[in-house]
Amino acid sequence: MLELGVNREVKIMCGIVGYVGNKSAVDILLEGLTNLEYRGYDSAGIAVNPEGVVKLYKAEGKLQNLKDIVEKNYGEISKSTIGIGHIRWATHGAPTVANAHPHTCNCGKVAIVHNGIIENFKELREKLEKQGCTFRSQTDTETVAHLVATKFAQTKDLTEAVRLATKEIEGAYALCVIHQDVKNTIVATRRNAPLLVGLGENEYYIASDVPAIIQHTKKAMYIDDNQIVTVTPNSIRLIDEENNLIQGKIETLPWEPVALSKMGYKHFMLKEIHEQPDVVRNVLSGKLRAIDEPITLNEVTLDKETLKNLNRIQIVACGTSLHAAMVGKYIIEDFCGISVDVEPSSEYIYRKTITDKNTLVIGVSQSGETADTITAVRQAKAKGSHILIVTNRPDSTMAREANSLVPVYAGIEVSVAATKSYMAQLISFYLLAIYIAETKGVSKDELSDLKRELIVLPQKIEKILAHKEDIQKCARAFSSSKDFIFIARGVNFATALEGALKLKEISYINATGYTAGELKHGPIAMLDETMPVLSILMKGKVYDKILSNSEEARARNARMIALTDSDDVKLNELFECIIRIPEISEILSPALAVVPLQLLAYYIAEFLGKDVDQPRNLAKSVTVE
Ligand code: M6R
Repeated sequence: MLELGVNREVKIMCGIVGYVGNKSAVDILLEGLTNLEYRGYDSAGIAVNPEGVVKLYKAEGKLQNLKDIVEKNYGEISKSTIGIGHIRWATHGAPTVANAHPHTCNCGKVAIVHNGIIENFKELREKLEKQGCTFRSQTDTETVAHLVATKFAQTKDLTEAVRLATKEIEGAYALCVIHQDVKNTIVATRRNAPLLVGLGENEYYIASDVPAIIQHTKKAMYIDDNQIVTVTPNSIRLIDEENNLIQGKIETLPWEPVALSKMGYKHFMLKEIHEQPDVVRNVLSGKLRAIDEPITLNEVTLDKETLKNLNRIQIVACGTSLHAAMVGKYIIEDFCGISVDVEPSSEYIYRKTITDKNTLVIGVSQSGETADTITAVRQAKAKGSHILIVTNRPDSTMAREANSLVPVYAGIEVSVAATKSYMAQLISFYLLAIYIAETKGVSKDELSDLKRELIVLPQKIEKILAHKEDIQKCARAFSSSKDFIFIARGVNFATALEGALKLKEISYINATGYTAGELKHGPIAMLDETMPVLSILMKGKVYDKILSNSEEARARNARMIALTDSDDVKLNELFECIIRIPEISEILSPALAVVPLQLLAYYIAEFLGKDVDQPRNLAKSVTVE
């Protein structure tokens, strides 16, 4: 029997920000929403209380539309020292003003913003309509606004009203609520959706994610499932669902506000590509101390005994993280001799997997909030597997499921297209593979060679970043192509897939990665003088094979591009464009070869005038199934 749906995580890609204190709230709200904008959204709104009356301002489309509305009413709105704001990615109801958050009740005194999906909203709505509630939107969220209002009518206590309302709600939520009759107070709560409170001087911030508040404070309290927090300018009170008082833990956020600036680059993506040498240094720091010292992974608790009993490793991930996982499989099998399966989380969760207590399940996720991967690791956890999470967000939902954690510390990644987080994941997999091999007692010279190469990798990436002319030339020459094929073999098959993914997601050019050996089993039929084929030709075991696959493609008149660490002049005859990168061992080459492919995608998208950082239809964290 299939065991599906263990604790299914169903959320939406929205953003919440709230403020109560002694400053004008509106700028803080709009700045917070701007810093969450990268996550993807299609409408926005705020609720403030400037003169004892709750007022809502909402707009369809880009945040600028909301900012324009606010500007027209700025004199009044800016008087409010309390407010809640939201960017919405539509699930229930179209992205219209009526469906944009905040939502309110009949009398308009309650304002509510919500991330998540209220699964029983239909039943609740029917019940509330019978009680006289008038709905103005098609959203699931509006039911919560009416529900809180009815509970408030009974209790005259906003925290209690929210607590009682959440008892009737099924689904996932982060909620932020204000009420006109409860001055200077925000009540917030969550279940299966992230929420934190930022602490300032006589002020509190509420956010669904760190970027919304990091400009103002690094002191924060993460709210756990079913906890309810009530903040006023000078008080914070945390309770559980049974009304018991809880002592929240105040943490220092490990992020710098500068992460949210483009630092002179035209796009965040370009900035993040250029951060990769430092990202590699960060990931290695403290873990790879010396060639003859074992790798230290402080939060990995896999001991020799557990590793001895392991039958298999399963890695689950989506998108770019899945490609990092594919490289991970290759190197773990190579160095550790353990069988590794890699599977998209969205497939893993809908089949009967051979997963048990002797399986190590690795979840890989930049955000740590990807719904399918969270479900996959929860399913595996329920079967007794050791869960190891590789993530850029040690504060995420996924990280909380971990028995072992590998935080990758790439810093906040703003561009929707993952670049530096991929690099950080790759380096983490190299370290993890060496760690497992060393813990198992595998003694190999190759491990020392790899360590040596990892240390000099940042300089090699810097060399690529310092000489981008060939990549730009190639981008210009191929930017009008409608299709693209990427071919590679072995450890770089994942690089081909990642190069193709980068290109399609930001330039909307149809791009596919193939193992070069598969070309003649079908895809070769597509080749003619209009089709670019980019061969990833790194020196090593499969170099000659890919070269001959490239010759086959050239013979069908395809336009050939090489990405290579070879200086063989013979390549000049075969390839119209050659992107040369520093020499590197084949096993580590994915970490270098991906950089020109990120840049190629970036420059093509830039030439085409696309919205590089926020490509259409995409969100930074895919928190829906
Ligand atoms: O946060 P995650 O790493 O779990 O996200 C997985 C994918 O949604 C993500 O990698 C996506 O494919 C990116 N847009 C790729 O650039």
